[in-house]
Amino acid sequence: MSDQMSYGTFEAAQEKSKAIEADIHTHPERYRVLTGDRPTGKLHIGHLFGSLQNRVRLSRLGVHTFIVIADYQVLTDRETFEAIAENTRQLTIDYLAAGIVPNERTHIFPHSHVPELNQLLLPFLTLVTNAELNRNPTVKEEIAASGMKNITAGMYTYPVHQAADILFCKGNTVPVGKDQLPHLELTRVIARRFNERFASGMPVFPEPQALLSAAPTLLGLDGGQKMSKSRNNAIMLCATEEETASLIKKAKTDSERLITYDPEKRPEVANLLLIISLCTGEKPEAIAARIGDQGSGALKRLLTESLNEYIKPLRAERRRLEADPAYIRSVLKAGIESSRAIAVDTLAEVRAAMHMEL
Ligand code: TRP
Repeated sequence: MSDQMSYGTFEAAQEKSKAIEADIHTHPERYRVLTGDRPTGKLHIGHLFGSLQNRVRLSRLGVHTFIVIADYQVLTDRETFEAIAENTRQLTIDYLAAGIVPNERTHIFPHSHVPELNQLLLPFLTLVTNAELNRNPTVKEEIAASGMKNITAGMYTYPVHQAADILFCKGNTVPVGKDQLPHLELTRVIARRFNERFASGMPVFPEPQALLSAAPTLLGLDGGQKMSKSRNNAIMLCATEEETASLIKKAKTDSERLITYDPEKRPEVANLLLIISLCTGEKPEAIAARIGDQGSGALKRLLTESLNEYIKPLRAERRRLEADPAYIRSVLKAGIESSRAIAVDTLAEVRAAMHMEL
């Protein structure tokens, strides 16, 4: 096989994403959304505004939605695995509390429980070259960031596994952030090569496109960097009102008393204004003008109030769900069952295309 794949540009992905966004409202039935997360812990408000609300919106439009909890992927970049099941439950609680409603069109499932999905990995691995996997920019960054010396084959091949996550249900639309675009490019290459090699004239797989979120990326409370639990700069969805207040009190701002919205020159203050804006719907500039010269104390008080008020119902629902582990288990069981039924059919089609049916 020749190695012709190139990891495409952000602009091209943005164009396609816009076209899908324009069409999905009028034709939700044309779309099959597959998205997901690694179960590495509970979610924070960056996830809520960045990806969760978008998923809720899509599933409310009536789009068939699959949410994969990528528990095998956790093994690629972490030493620890003991917490995977607990993290899977907590992730599910966060999804439900954020408004995902599991039903016949919306499924939440951990991929380790869907064997036929995982089996797709084997033919898929024969459709990409080592050179292509080595060039994946996201994997390269993750390897550099981890400081790992001995890189496992799992690290280089998890994007192929991700293609199985997406293609087992013939997902054609994948809401993700920019860092996942190389994986989607690879998924399209795998779908195309599978169709060409084994199923000419009768394509088995669609070539899925990214749906890039319009939501801005939140910075952490320490300013400079993206909000992330591992950087200890996040407000978790499960935090209490008091914890939220004390985290915000310690948030980094600057010494200028007059509050203005200037993301370039005053990123920390702008980020806090942005969070208020996401909670209240008011423009960040207008919020800044209202606070005026009352300084960052007033800004932080307003943020604490707005955020706590805004996520009050989510947190109440979260507490209710945490007290009902049997329900969480039943949601995952139903998600696994319906995903598995689909995976069984897809694998049968794949085997038939590869002339392996007896
Ligand atoms: N790799 C993704 C992440 O780290 C998680 C993921 C696994 C995923 N499988 C997926 C995302 C399929 C979208 C589609 O966040």
